[in-house]
Amino acid sequence: MACAPACFPAPGPLCVSPFIATDPVWQEKAQASVQLPNGEAAKELVREEESRDFSHLGSPPKLSRRGQDHASKITPFWNTFDCMLNDGFHPDANEGGIVNMGIANNSLMEDELLEYMHNNFKIEAIDLTYGSSLFGSTRLFQALCTHYNSADFSPKVPVLPKHILTSPGCGPLLDQIFEHLADPGDGVLVAAPCYNGFEADLTTRSKVHCIPVHCPKDKGHGSEAFNFEGESALRGFEEAIKDSESKGIKITSIIVCNPNNPVGRCYDRGALLAYGRFAAKHGLHLVFDEIYALSTFPTKDVDKPQPFISALNIDWADESGLHPGYVHILSSASKDFGLNGFRVGTFVSQHNETLVGAMKMTCKLYMVSSPADALFSSLLLNQDYLQGFIKTNRLRLAEAYDFVRSWCLHHKIDYTPSNAGHFLLVDLSRFMPREIQGRELEGREAESALWAKALDEKVCITPGFNYHHPEAGTYRLTFSLKRPCLIEGLARLEKALGLPPWL
Ligand SMILES: Cc1ncc(COP(=O)(O)O)c(C=O)c1O
Repeated sequence: MACAPACFPAPGPLCVSPFIATDPVWQEKAQASVQLPNGEAAKELVREEESRDFSHLGSPPKLSRRGQDHASKITPFWNTFDCMLNDGFHPDANEGGIVNMGIANNSLMEDELLEYMHNNFKIEAIDLTYGSSLFGSTRLFQALCTHYNSADFSPKVPVLPKHILTSPGCGPLLDQIFEHLADPGDGVLVAAPCYNGFEADLTTRSKVHCIPVHCPKDKGHGSEAFNFEGESALRGFEEAIKDSESKGIKITSIIVCNPNNPVGRCYDRGALLAYGRFAAKHGLHLVFDEIYALSTFPTKDVDKPQPFISALNIDWADESGLHPGYVHILSSASKDFGLNGFRVGTFVSQHNETLVGAMKMTCKLYMVSSPADALFSSLLLNQDYLQGFIKTNRLRLAEAYDFVRSWCLHHKIDYTPSNAGHFLLVDLSRFMPREIQGRELEGREAESALWAKALDEKVCITPGFNYHHPEAGTYRLTFSLKRPCLIEGLARLEKALGLPPWL
C-alpha cells in the first residue's frame, strides 16, 4: 500500500505560487530516459498510443466509488510534493533544490547510519523466502522486545513477541488499526494542533473522521504548550463528544501523540491518567503514537523538561480505572532512528487478543521487507551501539533546535518552546501578505500565501491550517537538517519574510 506523505499541506485556500502549478519536471525527465532494447525512445511510442481514439469501444473504464473518491483527491498539490521529494537541496549536488523544512526527516545521524548499514548488512537464506512468520519476522519481534523492555519504556508488564505486529510504517498501522476500532463514519478525537497525517491515514481507506479537539480557552500563539499537564490536557474533549454525537458521529477512540507532533512536548503522568479516566468513562480506545519516544532533548527554554513516559509504563487498570484492552501503542523506525525510508512500523497491544488477531489479517497483507527487517533488527540488538546513537542523536537535536531558536530570537520571532521531535512551531503571522493583486487576504488565505511565497524561494515550511492550529500564521519548521541545509533553509526563509540575513 502506498503510504500517504503526510507532511504536505492539504490544498490551501489560495494558491499564489507559480511553482505550485508546475507539473512534476522529474516525470518528464523520467519518461524521456526510458529506452527500448532497439534504441527507440519509449516515450514517443507511448505518446502515439495515448492519442489513439477508443471511443468506439464504449466509455472509459469506471472505478468503484472508493476508487473515484481517491482519484479525485490527487490534486496538483501532490505534484508539488513530488517535485520537492525529487528536487531536494544538497550543498554540492543540487544547490538549486528545495530545502524541505516541512517534512519531519532527521538527517542529523545520516553519516553514522549509512556507515552502520553498510557494515552490518547481513541477510540469510530465510530472508529470501516468506520468512519466519506471516505476521512479521520472529527476528524483528525479538529485537523489538529488547527495545520495548528497556529503561526508555519501562513497561509495567514485559513486552512479548505475541504483543507485537509490524507493517511498513506507522501510517499504514494507523490506517489498519482504525479499520478495526471504528466503522466508516465513526470519529476519533485528537488534541489540536495535531499531526496532519492522522487525517489522511484515517480517512483514506477506513473512512473514519479524525476530529481535532480545540481547548475553548486556548487562543494565541504558544498556548498549545499548556495542553500537556494533568486534567487540562482533556479540556474540550467532553464538549467534542457531545458535539460529535449531535452530528450523529460515534466516537470510538482517541489518538494521543506523545511526544507530540507538532508541539514537541511530552505529556506528564497526570495528563496520561486523565486520558485513561476519560477513556474509561466513555468506553474509548486510546491509541498512543509514540513515534518520537527517544527524540527528547535538553533545551535552554524548558527548565525541567517533562521526560517521555510510555503508555507501557502505566498500569491502566489500577491507575486510571481503564480496562487495559483499550490501550494500543504505535511507533516506527522512521523518526527516532532517522529511517523514514525503511518503512518499519510497530504495533503493541498487551491485553487485547481480538484486536491483535484482527490486525494480523491486515498486517499479513503489508509485511516489512526482509532487508529492512534485518538491518533494523541488527540496530536494535546492538545495544552498545544503539545507546551511543540515541545519545548523539539527542545532542544533535538539541544543537539544531538551539540554532533555530537563536535565529528566532535574533529576528524577534515568537516560537513555542519544545524539547522533543524534529520541529518547532513559529509565529510568522506578522509576515503574512495582507493583499494580493488588490484583493485583501485574511487568516488562512494569508497563511497559505506566505507558505507559497516561501516555496517560491525554494524552502518548504508547513502552515498551521495543516495541523488545525487555532491561529493563522503559525508554521512548523523542521530543524533536524544537516547544518549547511539548515543554514540555507533559514536564509531562504529570511528572503521570503523580507528579513536581513542573520549570518
Ligand atoms: C506523529 C506521526 N505519526 C506517524 C507518522 C508516519 O510515520 P511512518 O513514516 O512510520 O509512516 C509521522 C510522520 O511524520 C508522525 O509524525
